[in-house]
Amino acid sequence: DTAADATILVDRRDDGVAVITLNRPKALNALNLQVMREVAAALAELEGDASIGCVLLTGSERAFAAGADIKEMAEASYMDMYLPDWFAGWDAVANFRKPIVAAVAGYALGGGCELAMMCDVLIAADTATFGQPEIKLGIIPGMGGSQRLTRAVGKPKAMDLVLTGRNLGAEEAERAGLVSRIVPADDLLEEAGKVAATIAAMSLPTVMIAKESVARAFETTLAEGVRFERRVFHSLFATEDQKEGMAAFIEKRKPNFVGR
Ligand code: HXC
Repeated sequence: DTAADATILVDRRDDGVAVITLNRPKALNALNLQVMREVAAALAELEGDASIGCVLLTGSERAFAAGADIKEMAEASYMDMYLPDWFAGWDAVANFRKPIVAAVAGYALGGGCELAMMCDVLIAADTATFGQPEIKLGIIPGMGGSQRLTRAVGKPKAMDLVLTGRNLGAEEAERAGLVSRIVPADDLLEEAGKVAATIAAMSLPTVMIAKESVARAFETTLAEGVRFERRVFHSLFATEDQKEGMAAFIEKRKPNFVGR
């Protein structure tokens, strides 16, 4: 690629889903600083867009992303990484307030696996390969992998992956609790698109609050998390969508959520 070319494609669909496709095919979607900035900028726009209810993040058939861009980092010094807080821009994905469905085919390694783990629902093709191979490069995961992987799969499996750098196939990843569902590779975009469209058809404030509540479980104690859930649960009774959702149930019809 040349620096001028965009490294992502963004497609705002009329079903309320915005599809972000990582698009550096020659580098197996290696995540360089340009990809990071473009993803962050796209998400900043999508978060404030009331017509978008869910983001679908995907790569190519061969690679979701084969990691951070090794060529970009190879010669960097400690201060080259530390001063600009290299990779901190990816927090834009972790902090995004609407759901992100990751559709993963092929390699999701290193930063690619970490990016997938920042998403909310992780749909894997049967061809997906996950791993944190950084140890083989003399580094460790740097986009939250040592933390999110451990919370997802537990310490023994996380240690196995982070210390040996071995890869996981889709089946093992599902058994370990790393992915939500596995689908045949040919159906990946369609199936993940349906999941994203289902979410986008729900009430937007409810979806955002549901995401925030589940995400809380990663950050706080059970007692605090339950308290948080109770407060935001009550707040949903201030929405028109709660009235509509319950009226629709009672009237035996489909709800028509308006997003407020
Ligand atoms: C830069 C990469 C890359 C990467 C692949 N490429 N991964 N470039 N950074 N992470 C490039 C290759 O250099 C090559 O470019 C082209 O993509 C195709 O890759 P090949 O290796 O030829 O393909 P293949 O033989 O099929 O092997 C696929 C692969 C392998 C197993 C995924 O590419 C690989 O091991 N990649 C690195 C995986 C990795 O270590 N990821 C962690 C990165 S560190 P050319 O120009 O030769 O055609 C990381 C740090 C995270 O993520 C910490 C903070 C984020």
